[in-house]
Amino acid sequence: MTGLGHLLEHNQAWAARMEREQPGFFSRLVDQQRPRYLWIGCSDSRVPANQIVGLPPGEVFVHRNVANLVVHSDLNCLSVLDFAVNILGVRDVIVCGHYGCGGIKAALAPSQGRIVDHWVRHVRDIAKFYREELESQSCPQSRERRLCELNVAVQVVHVRESPVLAGIASKETRVHGWIYDLADGLLADLTPTVESLRAMEPSAGLR
Ligand code: CO
Repeated sequence: MTGLGHLLEHNQAWAARMEREQPGFFSRLVDQQRPRYLWIGCSDSRVPANQIVGLPPGEVFVHRNVANLVVHSDLNCLSVLDFAVNILGVRDVIVCGHYGCGGIKAALAPSQGRIVDHWVRHVRDIAKFYREELESQSCPQSRERRLCELNVAVQVVHVRESPVLAGIASKETRVHGWIYDLADGLLADLTPTVESLRAMEPSAGLR
C-alpha cells in the first residue's frame, strides 16, 4: 500500500454514497460534460470551488493557480477559458480570489527568490500600479485585503480582454469577480471594485 490507503477508502465510500443517493449519477456524467460555470480560483487548499458553492461534479469547470491569475500569455489558463466558453458553452466565468492569500502576501513582501516569486511578480505589478490606492489603506492588513480585491478585479479585466472573449462569445459571456473570506466561509461580489478600476487608473491608463 502507498500509505494513502485511507484516501482510496474515502473514495470508495463517497462513490457508493453518491450512487446510493442519486442512482445513475456516474453513468450520466460519463457521456457528457455540461458545466454551467467556469471557476478561476487560487490553488489554496482552503478554497475548493465546488464545495464552497455547493455544486456536485459536472457543474463547474475549474482552473486554479497561485493567486488566481489570468496572465495574458498563460496558455494553460487561456486554453481552459477557450474550451469552457467555445466548446462547453459556459456563459458565466467566475474569477474568485480570497482574503489571506499567500500569493498576495508574497507580493507585498521582499522576494525570497523562489520559483513562486516569479509567478507573483504579476501581483507585484498590480501593487505598483495601484500604489496610491493601497497606501491610502489604514493598516497593513487592510492593504493586503485591498490587494486581494484589486487582483481579482484586474484578472476579471484580463478575462474580458482575452482573445477568447474577443469574438461572438463575449456578448453572451458574463465575467464575475468574487472574493472568499476564509474566516467565515462567505463569498462577496466584487463588481463595484471591478467597475471602479478605471477610476483608479493612473493618468497613463491601462490601455
Ligand atoms: Co491564495
